[in-house]
Amino acid sequence: MKILICGKGGCGKSTITALLAQTMSREGYNVLVVDNDESNFGLHRQLGVELPEDFLNFFGGKKDLVERMKASFSTGEEVKFFDNRWEIADIPGEYVSRTDNISLMAVGKIHDFGEGCACPMGVLSKHLLKNIDAGSNDIVLVDTEAGIEHFGRGVEEGCDALLMVIDPSYESICLSEKISSLAEAAGKDLYYVLNRVEGESKTVLCEKVPDDRILATLPVMVSVFKAGLLGEQFDVDVPEVKEISDFLKDRK
Ligand SMILES: Nc1ncnc2c1ncn2[C@@H]1O[C@H](COP(=O)(O)OP(=O)(O)OP(=O)(O)O)[C@@H](O)[C@H]1O
Ligand SMILES: [Mg+2]
Repeated sequence: MKILICGKGGCGKSTITALLAQTMSREGYNVLVVDNDESNFGLHRQLGVELPEDFLNFFGGKKDLVERMKASFSTGEEVKFFDNRWEIADIPGEYVSRTDNISLMAVGKIHDFGEGCACPMGVLSKHLLKNIDAGSNDIVLVDTEAGIEHFGRGVEEGCDALLMVIDPSYESICLSEKISSLAEAAGKDLYYVLNRVEGESKTVLCEKVPDDRILATLPVMVSVFKAGLLGEQFDVDVPEVKEISDFLKDRK
């Protein structure tokens, strides 16, 4: 199964991706985490691995890809990325960092001033996710950049379901309505995880979000916050994350 994690800036997408990856890996799943956020330089630390080489480089790097994209605009022919379908094990070694049952790949980062936008990363993500076959013991978790640009690019197309992280803010409530209509248009099931939510804010959010679609509610966790601050590997068993994992297992 391929699950895309989305939500507003700072709501906890990367944190929940990393916690879910670790939980599912402990349960014996073969987890591929796709870091789809060109601005994130911390997710690999939370997973306890090195940042792998940009997957963009497999296709000659960003400049080459931009040229190929430009050429495809003028000819009207889509850029062809893959000749055959891939399983997780087919991803070339230099583009994955592995630990236990977790493999991390990063589509591409912004490295230099003035290097241009992240469009090639978005296009490549879409094709990569469509081209990866997840086996029955595999789970692919896609950590996205903040907001909804990836919906505009159709990155969701190759995913089976979407997990929106909602923090207790009005912006998250507004965005949940937008994401709900985008998910419907994409034909994808959308689930929610409430994050850093306790007490009264849970009551408010449960009125705004379809509560039969809420898979878990995570409180503020000091250990997670500390590890996040220090760039340390998460080493916590979070029962609420296990609830998400159990749901996904049953859905498979
Ligand atoms: N349940 C939690 N308890 C305590 N701290 C949390 C929790 N969830 C997230 N955090 C902290 O909140 C901050 C933002 O989390 P995170 O980076 O995962 O958000 P994000 O949605 O991925 O952000 P971005 O939009 O920048 O990608 C981090 O400092 C993280 O450690
Ligand atoms: Mg993030």
